[in-house]
Amino acid sequence: MARIPDAFIDDLLARTDIVEVIGARVPLKRQGKEYSARCPFHDERSPSFTVSPTKQFYHCFGCGAHGTAISFLMNYDRLEFLDAVDDLAKRAGMEVPRETQQRNENSDSRDLYAALEAASQFFRRQLGTSAKAGAYLDGRGVDEAVRAQFAVGYAPEGFSALKDALGTDPRRLNLLDRAGLLSKSDKGAVYDKFRDRVMFPILDRRGRAIAFGGRVLDPDHSPKYLNSPETALFHKGRELYGLWQVRQAHQKIERLIVVEGYMDVIALFQHGVTQAVATLGTATTPDHAELLFRNAPDVYFCFDGDNAGRKAATRAMESVLPRMRDGRQAFFLFLPEGEDPDTLVRSEGADGFDARLRQATPLSQFLFDSLSADVNLATLDGKARLAERARPMLAQIPDGAFGDLMRQHLTELTGVGARASTPDTHVPAQRARGTAPATAPKRSLVRGAIALLLQKPALALELAPPYRFIQLRQPGIELLTELIALVSARPEITTGALLEHFAGREEAAALQKLASQEQPGEEAAWQREFLDTIAQLDKQTLRQRVEELQDKQRQSGLDEADKTELRALLAGKAG
Ligand code: UTP
Ligand code: MN
Repeated sequence: MARIPDAFIDDLLARTDIVEVIGARVPLKRQGKEYSARCPFHDERSPSFTVSPTKQFYHCFGCGAHGTAISFLMNYDRLEFLDAVDDLAKRAGMEVPRETQQRNENSDSRDLYAALEAASQFFRRQLGTSAKAGAYLDGRGVDEAVRAQFAVGYAPEGFSALKDALGTDPRRLNLLDRAGLLSKSDKGAVYDKFRDRVMFPILDRRGRAIAFGGRVLDPDHSPKYLNSPETALFHKGRELYGLWQVRQAHQKIERLIVVEGYMDVIALFQHGVTQAVATLGTATTPDHAELLFRNAPDVYFCFDGDNAGRKAATRAMESVLPRMRDGRQAFFLFLPEGEDPDTLVRSEGADGFDARLRQATPLSQFLFDSLSADVNLATLDGKARLAERARPMLAQIPDGAFGDLMRQHLTELTGVGARASTPDTHVPAQRARGTAPATAPKRSLVRGAIALLLQKPALALELAPPYRFIQLRQPGIELLTELIALVSARPEITTGALLEHFAGREEAAALQKLASQEQPGEEAAWQREFLDTIAQLDKQTLRQRVEELQDKQRQSGLDEADKTELRALLAGKAG
């Protein structure tokens, strides 16, 4: 991803009115200081989506969706990060700075895109002239409209059709090579990688060809499917075949169906099921999971009913668990032996396939079924084993109703709570922890300071280093320090941008929660409260040091420097 300076993003967000941006797409109602609406990211009757002009972020109490004007455009208009930034910058009359290195990279990748596009068009034309390839697609029931929609093509036999057509000078030859379209023999001869294959271009999120899959026509040749290698533009773990076409076909994508093969996607489209995408010969990665849910609230994974299919489903489950924010649902469909979505939709039609999807196994059931497949829940040992296995998985589910229900269900099945050994990812101190020093107060000052900073990041600018409190051994101090450093480095930062900084980190959910709470009291009083809090933390730090030195005195005695320090501390009446 291109590097745009953080300072620019902060400035952009500060100059953008998030209420205007969202209001142009979703009807907002004013409610006190904030605006509310029915959430555009999940179905709901009563509005739990709020937009805060002061914090410059949106938040849904129902599904947990949240972010800045940039992330709103990414999710709602389904833009890429850079495009969302461009959009907002245009509105704000700002020029997006791009680093020079980026510019070079850009012109280089422009050439690569152009080479891939030219190859795609070449394959398209060849399909028109190959009776054999045309007959093959006829045989598989792919009509002209769908061929065009997916830009299906044909790579001719021989070793140099593409090379001769497009690799006419060393520069172009080099581009074809870097686009992954050529192979080299041991003796150094360069030739077409794809030969006598039906070609399926893989498009990126802007509809540009970035790679190809090619299927053999001659059943004696292998592999059946040949994919482009990873290139500067193509990382197969991040791409989904067909996503571009799904997005073209729908304003709002209600569901995505994840299948295994190119032909599955195409056959489903051919029969009117226009929400199918395929992973490219890989397991479902966490990047895939994020991409899927960024595009649709419901995701259906189709797998073979055999052992390999179950294994693949388990991998997919592991990838989606950390993405299961409220409002998202995942389902698993296991296909009958010997069938794939292509054969099923051809024999049962779209209705038959839909009926199968309606019977798909929800994630919750798949998780508990597969974890308890070989345990006897009638025994204590079995229950313990299930609890052991389930805990680390449930711990990955983001905070929310889904996670709560899953943990509750585990308790029902086993009698063992799921929380017990899950790591404590909360901003600390709703409860004093056993390991906390004796000086830890009941209600955490640290949490209070973090809450105030989230409300009004500029408060951090009131402080000057050295920050004594960073020595304090209390949960949350590191986070507080990080927040202060962040605001010092980026004084314009809004709450929304702060949260964005923590996106994907384990603190994110807790920070999000704190940020969306109304801070009591007048804004004018926050500064005093914040400085007070920091002063108290400083004081606790001194007290901690005094206790430390006194401990040392009892155990091993103090050296001169320690004694001087302790005297000074006590004279300062720390504690
Ligand atoms: P399958 O072998 O299940 O083929 O591979 P298919 O999709 O049913 O193909 P048809 O119907 O015979 O045309 C499923 C997917 O696995 C990847 C491809 O992405 C393929 O679509 N694959 C398969 C490969 O990458 N290489 C192979 O050799 C085979
Ligand atoms: Mn098939």
